[in-house]
Amino acid sequence: MRNGYGIACGKIILAGEHSVVYGQPAIALPFFSVHAKCFVSVSDDDDTMVSSLYSGKLDDAPAHFNGVKDVLNKLKNDLKITSNLNITIDSDVPTERGLGSSAAVSVALVRAVFEFMNQEASQDELRDYTHIAESYHHDNPSGIDSEIIIKEQTIYYIKNKSSEIMNVDVDAVLVVADTGQAASTKEAVQNVRRQYTDHAQAINDLGLLTNKAKEFINTKDIQGLGDCLYESHLKLQSIGVSSLELDKLVEAAMENGALGAKLSGGGLGGCMIALCTPDKTNDVLSSLINAGSKKTWVMSLKEEYHG
Ligand code: MEV
Repeated sequence: MRNGYGIACGKIILAGEHSVVYGQPAIALPFFSVHAKCFVSVSDDDDTMVSSLYSGKLDDAPAHFNGVKDVLNKLKNDLKITSNLNITIDSDVPTERGLGSSAAVSVALVRAVFEFMNQEASQDELRDYTHIAESYHHDNPSGIDSEIIIKEQTIYYIKNKSSEIMNVDVDAVLVVADTGQAASTKEAVQNVRRQYTDHAQAINDLGLLTNKAKEFINTKDIQGLGDCLYESHLKLQSIGVSSLELDKLVEAAMENGALGAKLSGGGLGGCMIALCTPDKTNDVLSSLINAGSKKTWVMSLKEEYHG
């Protein structure tokens, strides 16, 4: 019996979330501590799916899966798949936490369906199919989530313009902490759009901070990079996309030796990141757990460790 398998990592936005929607640059890293995996096989019945959020006929799946449904239908049509399929999704990318769960599931699904047909999806095909699903989860997505997950390398990204691979090799660590609060990226993006005129200056400043962060990565100035991250957090707070829980984790990290800290992704909940020197990792980690983080991960920014 034919099977297909696809896997995709999560993502971390280091700088430039939200402002990237308005044409400002952003920097994102692949996050290899979490993955979405997808298995595809022939179904004797209708198209069905098994996942931690829903198992049953794909037609009866809740609205959350509309993007997956659309992508699957388009793939079946384009690749001329006549059999019905079982889709199993096994993901440890927490949903609605700014770590790219929806894009990771879509990329894994597209890879799996192509493999099922003994084909390999090109980067353009992955981008196009993933965009269909991402449009359900985001409001006019900038494309950065799928781009980073497809490329699996750090990128400096400008919407509809460029996606430049960056070499990050600094002697520092990112501690990633989940507030445990699920949050809708779509809602966060819509909130910012509604008040765009009030936020135009902050959005421009976020772009400038991203460019500074890029410079500091290239010159290996980790304190400079930390300052950019914390200043970015304050700007994101000013445009209304932080939350009390995120602010509490950011302040806890800053008070316990982090070089910088900020929310990461859509905000209104979800995850934050703290940059620190390797010797401060344990202090920052414990401060985040004490301040209420529900889950933490540690990621080295030395080239040989972060992929
Ligand atoms: C979400 O990961 C990043 C946002 O900038 C939205 C987008 O880029 O589409 C908040």
